Amino acid sequence: GKPPNLFAFQGLDDLAPSLRAYILDAQKSALDRHHVFRVALSGGSLPKVLARALLDEKNGEGVIQYDKWEIFFADERAVPLDHEDSNYRLVKQEILDKIPQQLGKPTVYSIDVKYLDDVQEMADQYEKTLVSVFAARDSVKLPMFDLLLLGCGPDGHTCSLFPGSPLLRELDAWVLSISDSPKPPPKRITLSLPVTQHGIKIAFIATGGGKKDIMKEIFDTEEGQQLPCGLINSAAQERVSWFVDHPAIEGVSFP
Ligand code: 6PG
Repeated sequence: GKPPNLFAFQGLDDLAPSLRAYILDAQKSALDRHHVFRVALSGGSLPKVLARALLDEKNGEGVIQYDKWEIFFADERAVPLDHEDSNYRLVKQEILDKIPQQLGKPTVYSIDVKYLDDVQEMADQYEKTLVSVFAARDSVKLPMFDLLLLGCGPDGHTCSLFPGSPLLRELDAWVLSISDSPKPPPKRITLSLPVTQHGIKIAFIATGGGKKDIMKEIFDTEEGQQLPCGLINSAAQERVSWFVDHPAIEGVSFP
């Protein structure tokens, strides 16, 4: 079915300002609530689209208060931070390095490369970092990100949660490791499904004709609801927004 918050645009030129407004709104609620803005980012095509939304002054009013941002990785590849497969490197190159100095610097929680040889330990350490941030005062069952910005792969994966993976059944851990990712590189860490579903706001960004089959499956079929993107979409309901372009939803009928 048609998700409650579907924002469809001709292309990136009109998607970017709308995504910026959405992020500013999420930032405002977060700062009103607890004076920081905790955001989880994916890799793939997302950092480039996000850069368009954040960095282009033409995109409208409102100040991005980067110094209040705490950036986490929704998933990350177990590679050095300057490696071409690193999501950190991508976010740094596309966004962090381009933020005008006077706007301040976000706090960025990257993986600890000490654990490159032991991806489970890397996941445990990243989880410890999340515990220190999200459960510093009280014990909490799940961390609550103010905003998760996610992609949706052509097979319906999101973060590094792939269709049919046993990781989808994990209920307690916050961060999981994967050693045989179907999408290279094989070793990764990822937020668990319940953590993604628990976000205060969750945005999927899917652009380009390469997404139209998976969009059809997620929105037009029962089976699509069982794919990782579908599982987040149906659990989080009106907390989820989709930012798509017309090629990505071409032929989707939203029954
Ligand atoms: C990764 C990404 C991944 C991505 C999807 C969609 O590290 O592989 O975080 O989860 O978001 O694969 O990627 P595209 O947006 O490039 O299709």
